[in-house]
Amino acid sequence: MDSMDFDALEAAAKARMSPGAYAFVATGADDEITAAENVAAWRALRLRPRVLRDITQIDTSATIQGVRVAMPIMVAPSGRHKAIHPEGERATARGAAEAGAIYTLSTTSSVPIEEIAAVRGSAPQWFQLYLVPDRAWQEALLDRLAAAGFRAVVLTVDQPVYGWSPRAARCPLEPSPDIRHVNMPGAPMGRTAYDPTLKGKVIYPATFRDLEWLARRSPIDVFVKGVLRGDEARRCVDAGAKAVIVSNHGGRHLDTTVTTAVALPEVVAAVGRRVEVYVDGGIRRGTDILKALALGARAVLVGRPVLWGLATGGADGVRDVLQHLRDELARAMALSGVSRLEEATPDLVAG
Ligand SMILES: Cc1cc2nc3c(=O)[nH]c(=O)nc-3n(C[C@H](O)[C@H](O)[C@H](O)COP(=O)(O)O)c2cc1C
Repeated sequence: MDSMDFDALEAAAKARMSPGAYAFVATGADDEITAAENVAAWRALRLRPRVLRDITQIDTSATIQGVRVAMPIMVAPSGRHKAIHPEGERATARGAAEAGAIYTLSTTSSVPIEEIAAVRGSAPQWFQLYLVPDRAWQEALLDRLAAAGFRAVVLTVDQPVYGWSPRAARCPLEPSPDIRHVNMPGAPMGRTAYDPTLKGKVIYPATFRDLEWLARRSPIDVFVKGVLRGDEARRCVDAGAKAVIVSNHGGRHLDTTVTTAVALPEVVAAVGRRVEVYVDGGIRRGTDILKALALGARAVLVGRPVLWGLATGGADGVRDVLQHLRDELARAMALSGVSRLEEATPDLVAG
């Protein structure tokens, strides 16, 4: 592909994937309203560019949790990558490392933690957590993550029960003995979160008490993912979260939530002085990223486009998607008179 047109990339990914795997990646919950609106909401925001600034040097590097990284673009956690590419998350993590982007491994991944740690580059890796009922097992996992060099655990809080996807029900992901949730107790066969047989393997309905326990017990920092309100973000930080990810899970569980572009400023106003705030959902362009940073996000996470890159080109495809987004961000910055990310302030976006 000579240019990275995401519509064409998705079409190419669809042609390569099994129908069940494509439906798993593409779907949103119910009527897929939030999944579509997340994308539309960033596009609907309007930029207010500055002019006649010195833009000879455009610097897209960012400091995230005190670590300098090449870009404020991170890979959002998603599982079962062996259903998308034979190398699974190993390829995704390698592509992220080659791009210098932070990678978040999912609880529902199909490659062991240590194999992901082995492909780490200069950027840190984080681990997305769903708590499991067995506390001893859970504690051992936290220690294993720390020993493997993961820098943070990201507790996903927006899926206390399964959502429902008519699209995935019509076209389910076929389970295969080769694709397993190897980082979960018993390594169950890979199934989507819409599949009732995964029930009971994970405590989805975690509470603030669990978050407090986790923040105390975890040897590495705990972040929360899936917050859409300022008051809830404040409670999470009070309970020990060291960062908040504004997310509605790509619209995959509760349909018709507020979009993440709309929720972001409220969360930044509530906790942005205490912790770093990140955002995901519908980020498809460099202009989307610039808007998110201007509205107070320290970085963005990208979900589906990374998986399209994985399906079409393995690690190289993932790296190309991330580098393409970084190139678009650099162009959007230059055209807006912004040479460093610190200069991306709310006045860049029309109120
Ligand atoms: C196929 C797929 C699987 C996902 N699995 C997880 C998961 O295991 N844990 C989680 O916290 N979020 C999961 N997500 C949500 C993403 O982390 C992220 O919030 C969302 O994809 C961002 O929206 P975008 O795809 O529009 O960029 C998944 C998303 C997709 C597309």
